[in-house]
Amino acid sequence: MRPTHYLSRRAVLAGLGTTAVAATLAACATSGSSGSKSGGAAGEGDASQVDVVTWWSAGSEKLGLDALVKVFNEQFPKTKFENKAVSGGAGSQAKQKLAADLAAKNPPDTYQAHAGAEIKDHIEAGYLLDVSSLYEEFKLNEAFPAALMDRLKDSDGKIYSVPSNIHRANVVWASVPALKAAGLDPTKPATTIDAWIADMEKVKAAGLTPITMGMAWTQLELLETILIADLGVDAYNGLFDGKTDWGGAEVTKALEHYKTIVGYTDSSLYTEDWEPAMKPIMDGKAAFNVMGDWAVAGFDAAGKKAGEDYVYFPVPGTDGIFDFLADSFTLPDGAKHPGGAKNWLNAISSKDGQIAFNTVKGSIPARTDLTDEEKGKFSEYQRSAMESFAKDKIVSSIAHGAALPAKATNAMNDALTKFAQGASDVTALQADLKAAVAS
Ligand code: BGC
Repeated sequence: MRPTHYLSRRAVLAGLGTTAVAATLAACATSGSSGSKSGGAAGEGDASQVDVVTWWSAGSEKLGLDALVKVFNEQFPKTKFENKAVSGGAGSQAKQKLAADLAAKNPPDTYQAHAGAEIKDHIEAGYLLDVSSLYEEFKLNEAFPAALMDRLKDSDGKIYSVPSNIHRANVVWASVPALKAAGLDPTKPATTIDAWIADMEKVKAAGLTPITMGMAWTQLELLETILIADLGVDAYNGLFDGKTDWGGAEVTKALEHYKTIVGYTDSSLYTEDWEPAMKPIMDGKAAFNVMGDWAVAGFDAAGKKAGEDYVYFPVPGTDGIFDFLADSFTLPDGAKHPGGAKNWLNAISSKDGQIAFNTVKGSIPARTDLTDEEKGKFSEYQRSAMESFAKDKIVSSIAHGAALPAKATNAMNDALTKFAQGASDVTALQADLKAAVAS
């Protein structure tokens, strides 16, 4: 089997592992969520324009946004789209500006967030409106899969965002020339973390960089995939509902693996975003990078060909597991153009919007009602991801907001920065991660 097909190899039940996130959202609904808003009239009001905050400001991500805006303009020609994108991968800058604007009661009309626990704090602070009524109006309850709906709902069944897509985080992107230079067969990727580390050693011996990682959130994405590989689905899910101890031996083992792998990275990239960190893979100067499947759009935009220039495969030890995240847009309380926001949410969740956006973005549509002909518009990688999402066990990404509230994720990012720039102390990292989740 060619490795470019490798992500869809295993068939296991979908929809597992959703309990942890449902529990997190349920907890947020019951623990002091007095500020959260609900009601049947979400999105009534001024529809003359819509101010949209994303972090899709450049490169392949901007191309995806452009494709979405084109459909939006066709569907709602009377609502003017205002691009309020803030650059910085995974929202590293946008989220800081948003926090200040929301606290100052100066919200945009809608903003990019992630499905899952990330927006817990915003719901509790009363920044967001319940958009369940829009799910009824746009008939989204039937269009979205259960694994996604479980992550969107709180314990009362309220929903505070509308997803535009589903991304997968546990993917290794590998340079074919670099693998060949190291004597590795690009069609036979490692299937365990230890075998993968042995491959990295061969790449190093060939004089190339074994693996790259960039700024903190890319480090967290790498770490979470190693946790999934070492703990397995059940124990990984247990990290978010208290059933697995962050201080336990299995986490220590994963952190030791992480430390070894970080030892093969190029520290000059630690302040870079995902694209500069992926460039050495594109240029054949480094072998591996773990990144979400927005990377496939980056390879496409750079004219690189799957199978020839690069291959992709699940992070070793995570085959049959889909590390899930979804970009999901909100309706803030006090938005100046709630009607514009409603139109945006309508367009991004429509079939046309999801097809136009996702074919360019590398993700798969959140909707499951695509015909075979419509699925045929997607790349080979994306069709394999659709197949995997339907069959694999689904777990929630930490780095991309599905698993934990933003506060905990931010504290983890800080812990990883300290680890990468300091003495690489596993004991200290483990304590910091445990404290981050407790926060
Ligand atoms: C988002 C993706 C985006 C990636 C890199 C993730 O958090 O969900 O849409 O492409 O960050 O910026």
